Amino acid sequence: VNQDRIINFCIIAHVDHGKSTLADRLLEYTDTIEERDMEEQLLDTMELERERGITIKAQAVRMNYEADDGQNYILNLIDTPGHVDFNYEVSRSLEACEGALLVIDAAQGVEAQTLANIYLALEADLEIIPVINKIDLDSARPDLVKEELIDIGIDPDEAILTSAKEGVGIGEVLDAVVERVSSPAGDIDRPLKALIFDSVYDPYQGVIAYYRVVEGSIEPGMEIEMMATEKTFEVEEVGIFTPNMESVDRLVAGEVGYVIAGIKDVKHSRVGDTITEANNPTDEPLPGYQKAKPMVYCGLYPVEGADYDLLRDALEKLQLNDAALTFEPETSEALGFGYRGGFLGLLHMEIIQERLEREYDLDLITTAPSVVYKVHKEDGEVLEIENPAKMPEPQEIDFIEEPFVEATIMLPDDYVGDGMELAQDRRGEFEDMQYLDETRVKLVYELPLSEIILDFFDQLKSATRGYATLDYEFVGYREADLVKLNILVNKDPIDALSCIVHEDNAYEIGQSLTRKLKEFIPEQMFEVPVQAAIGNNVIARQTIRAKRKNVLQKCYGGDVSRKRKLLEKQKEGKKRMKQVGSVEIPQEAFMAILSID
Ligand code: GTP
Repeated sequence: VNQDRIINFCIIAHVDHGKSTLADRLLEYTDTIEERDMEEQLLDTMELERERGITIKAQAVRMNYEADDGQNYILNLIDTPGHVDFNYEVSRSLEACEGALLVIDAAQGVEAQTLANIYLALEADLEIIPVINKIDLDSARPDLVKEELIDIGIDPDEAILTSAKEGVGIGEVLDAVVERVSSPAGDIDRPLKALIFDSVYDPYQGVIAYYRVVEGSIEPGMEIEMMATEKTFEVEEVGIFTPNMESVDRLVAGEVGYVIAGIKDVKHSRVGDTITEANNPTDEPLPGYQKAKPMVYCGLYPVEGADYDLLRDALEKLQLNDAALTFEPETSEALGFGYRGGFLGLLHMEIIQERLEREYDLDLITTAPSVVYKVHKEDGEVLEIENPAKMPEPQEIDFIEEPFVEATIMLPDDYVGDGMELAQDRRGEFEDMQYLDETRVKLVYELPLSEIILDFFDQLKSATRGYATLDYEFVGYREADLVKLNILVNKDPIDALSCIVHEDNAYEIGQSLTRKLKEFIPEQMFEVPVQAAIGNNVIARQTIRAKRKNVLQKCYGGDVSRKRKLLEKQKEGKKRMKQVGSVEIPQEAFMAILSID
């Protein structure tokens, strides 16, 4: 293999600007896949991903391309995930590349994520090739987009105009990749040093790790060591994606591929870790390794108690593929036996919940997300509490600490006021504000993580019409005046509904939460009071009236199909209900904290 003929690159884009479509066209143009074999958007493999339009698992495909200079090149296209929960995975994928295609919609222009992506790409020292896509649209304004490029420090003359949909400009894109992106440099004769940027679990082959060889080479029979976990394995197979897995004799510095080595658990081939040769190790691992650490926890309870074992099996299977997912058994007075799951962020949590329901056909009740609090008790003991229900009584507590993050928000200057207001509402402490160029501003706040996980990003986006981006990093634990809000339904405290809030907001949250619960909990045959209390001190109360009508009365006996629909709807609703004491509580109620205003 001639290193000068290898190029590793990725595509970055704001949502919907055409990243997947362009990737498809590149694969077709290079005959990597035939048009008729083309499953739409090949790079997004999982069904769920496709529906949500995001990429969760990075992948890499090798293309062969004969360039203008008559030489054959190996172009490795590395796909990157696209959400703040997976920023670390993105950063590792970018580290494996030398260049990036920056796709910008010719009608929409530069958007929030475009800018965020540029920063990530610059941090990874990538050559950026701007691609103005969708020029076939009537509303396309490539000249305006070029002016916007100047504003963000990119030379507009470098932009390539494409219509990924109609296959226009695809050759130019590939030529630009060959001409502008440098080839990898690492020394083939040094000890093995390879960066893992993804790994997946396959039931037949075990873990398949994806990596970029930085120095040295890797081949079957070699004893390798994962430097962070210090686990060793014997290489069974190395190979490339064309896009199917194809084994090769060896992979050398600069190449991208996979390794199968009898690895049983993705925990042993973590994203960001360095693979080296066990008997001839490299002096130093690659910089930047971070252990995936759950930030957000929630309770996962089967609606049918009998599904408890199924839920455990499903979680174990998902964990094989997801090093960041954690879970432990947990019991709730209200919900019975379940698990406490740990996740990277809210999106990660939602994805796991959905996969449990869809792929394993489980009906779940999930409780509101929570962070881990450090509770210092009067007797000197320090507890780590990840479930509000387990918070000790107020009189036992000396003080409580909560996790803080440094949040970096990037947004157009028109929205600075809105961004700041939201951050302040969420107990944010202002740190810094900088103009990145004439119109774009970077705000830095320190915020409690608990505020971030309660829908902060979505609210930020709606406050800024989608323009703001958010990135955050854990900075440490801070003391705060926190209290546990007990929720009583029909005078019974419901442990799975309790939450931890700041003392100053407790009254307000108690009011809105009880109002929401009144909305979500259906009328029963009797009147049901819903109360919020701190200790025994009730601070808010709402009353759910006793049931009067039944649903079918509204149908006037006539329309059969409508009646059936209503009944079905009711049945559907029932599935996600839990009988708690004498009251039926639906799923939405356990997440009510996420929808209070
Ligand atoms: P995410 O995966 O959600 O980040 O989106 P993406 O950036 O991968 O965009 P995708 O390729 O899914 O394209 C988004 C939409 O734009 C799809 O409906 C495409 O068919 C459409 N699209 C992509 N390229 C073009 C183009 O050149 N012209 C037109 N008219 N539509 C395009």
